[in-house]
Parts: sequence; structure tokens; C-alpha cells
Amino acid sequence: METSVPQSTFATKTASNMNVLAKPVLKWAGGKTQLLPVLSAKYPKSLGTKITKYIEPFFGGGAVFFDLYNSNFIKDAIILDANPELILMYKTIKKKPEALVETLHNLQKKYLLLNNSNREKLYYEIREDFNSNRKSNYKELNPIRASQIVFMNRTCFNGLFRVNRKGGFNVPYGNYKNPKILDSENIYAVSKAFQIAEILHGDYEDILALVKSNDVFIYYDPPYRPLNDTSNFNSYTGVFNDSHQIRLANIFKILNEKGIYQMLSNSDPMSATGDNFFDKLYEDFNISRVEAKRMINSNASKRGKIFELLITNY
Ligand SMILES: C[S@@+](CC[C@H](N)C(=O)[O-])C[C@H]1O[C@@H](n2cnc3c(N)ncnc32)[C@H](O)[C@@H]1O
Repeated sequence: METSVPQSTFATKTASNMNVLAKPVLKWAGGKTQLLPVLSAKYPKSLGTKITKYIEPFFGGGAVFFDLYNSNFIKDAIILDANPELILMYKTIKKKPEALVETLHNLQKKYLLLNNSNREKLYYEIREDFNSNRKSNYKELNPIRASQIVFMNRTCFNGLFRVNRKGGFNVPYGNYKNPKILDSENIYAVSKAFQIAEILHGDYEDILALVKSNDVFIYYDPPYRPLNDTSNFNSYTGVFNDSHQIRLANIFKILNEKGIYQMLSNSDPMSATGDNFFDKLYEDFNISRVEAKRMINSNASKRGKIFELLITNY
């Protein structure tokens, strides 16, 4: 068990140069920005020296990738997600940041000139256009589509990306006074960070074929196992059920045998209901319980501390 860890940029809060630090472009369900102090304390000790490659198979907003990149720990990365819209947007940011900035700039200008009811109308027009041009896979970069995702993420209710069972984006309008739709500095910073990354649309199991050497660190942040019976439905990826959790644990074991450094987050059914599902599944590894900053109950009186798991094989 390693005891000391490299200091991440997040932990030290010192920028190594005048460049803007890249941060997640979207607000994303389960985003890890708030947990970075806890996660970064658990990074492998040899990150940045012996380990310079990184794989993140449930990328989402990518908070950990940006922390590692900003901290200069990684030279090479593979980022993967099963959501085709998200991956299309990231590929567009990597290759065509100027086109995205320009499209978003125009959209922001148009939006801010409108009165409230016309802003709402524009939101629903964009949502309709986005939903009627959907594909399950994308062959070409698409700055317009990418700009629509950022725009909706900034102006929709609660700023989330959520789709219905048919795959349509279905979040209602958010009615915020002055949303910051375009953050061009961050888009360029993210584009620069992505130059070290291969960006892939796929399933987490694809990583088995992608790990080619053992100087790799993998962070897994899968859809969490629900603590109650609420369905964990995501129309792009189907239900991420217990059989997925078990398949994921098998991948963790296979890559452990290959000497890969791995860290995994999940919910903690043990501290919620006494269910030892993950304790058994990962019994050969190091399991810590960390306090999640997120509040899961919208009813303030029922809010309490919730814990989640952080599992490492080092
Ligand atoms: C909890 S989120 C990750 C959050 C991320 N760590 C962050 O900081 O924003 C889980 C992600 O897994 C993706 N996902 C769901 N099922 C997947 C699968 N079978 N393979 C790969 N990614 C999947 C979802 O699209 C979602 O972006």
C-alpha cells in the first residue's frame, strides 16, 4: 500500500503557468469536481513518473482527467463514454474549437437579446432541432450540435443532460437570469488538453483491448448502483445493472493481474442498507468509504451525509 501521493494541481491550487486550467465543459450527473480533494489524495504514488498514461472509460464530464492533465501527470490518455452525443461534442472540441466558439458566441448573442418568453421559445426550438437530428453514431464533427449541447446544458433546468427512453433530450427550460453560455477560454484549454487524448465512443469493456502496457492508470466512475429500487435507466447505454457491475469487477481483476493501477468509484450500499455487494465483489482490493459532497435528497430535512466507495488495487 502506498502512503504518499503526488500533489495534484487541485490539491495545491497553483497553476504551473499562465495558461487557463481546463475544467469540465458540461455539468454532468455524478461529476467528480467536488470530490477531487479526496480522489487526488488516492492517486498512485508513481503517477507522473513511472505512470504517464491514463484511461477513463466512463468519462462523463471528465473532472479527474482535467485534474491529471492540469497537474502535468499524464502524457497520453484514452477517454471513452457510451454516450454518442457527449463523444461527438468532445471530438469537435478537440479538432474544431474555433468553430464551436463561433457558433456558441452567435447563439449566446441571439439568446441574450431576447426577452424571457422568447428565450424560452428559443430553448425549445433548439431542443427540438437537436432531437430531430439524432443518430446513434456520428461520423463527422458537428460544431452546431456541440453548441446545442453546451447551450442546453447552460440554460436547461438544473443544467443536466438527460434523455427519455426514446433517446430525446427532455429537460425543461431553466429560466436563469444571466447564464454564461460561452466560456471560450475553457473551450480552448479543453481542446489543448484533448490533444494528448484519443476520444472514443464505446463500451467500458473495450478498454481490455486498449491497454497495451502496464504504465497505465485507470479511473472508473460507472453509473452508480442504486441504493433503492429506482431504475438506473440511461437510454443511450441501457440499464447499468448488477450484471454490468460484476462484468466491470471482472475487468478490474483481469487488469490487476496485468499490473495496471486502478481506482474505482461507486455507491456504498453497505453504509446505506448493510448490503455487502461491493465488499464481496472487490474483497481482494483496498476499499475506502468517502463522504460524498452531493446531497441526494431534494427534501432538505431528509438530507444527510452519504458515503461512497473508493476502491484501489494499490
Ligand atoms: C457517473 S458518470 C461519470 C462522471 C464523471 N466522472 C465526471 O466527473 O463527470 C458515468 C458515465 O458513464 C457513461 N456510461 C454508462 N454506461 C456505460 C458503458 N456501458 N460504457 C461506457 N460508458 C458508460 C455515461 O454516459 C456517463 O457519462
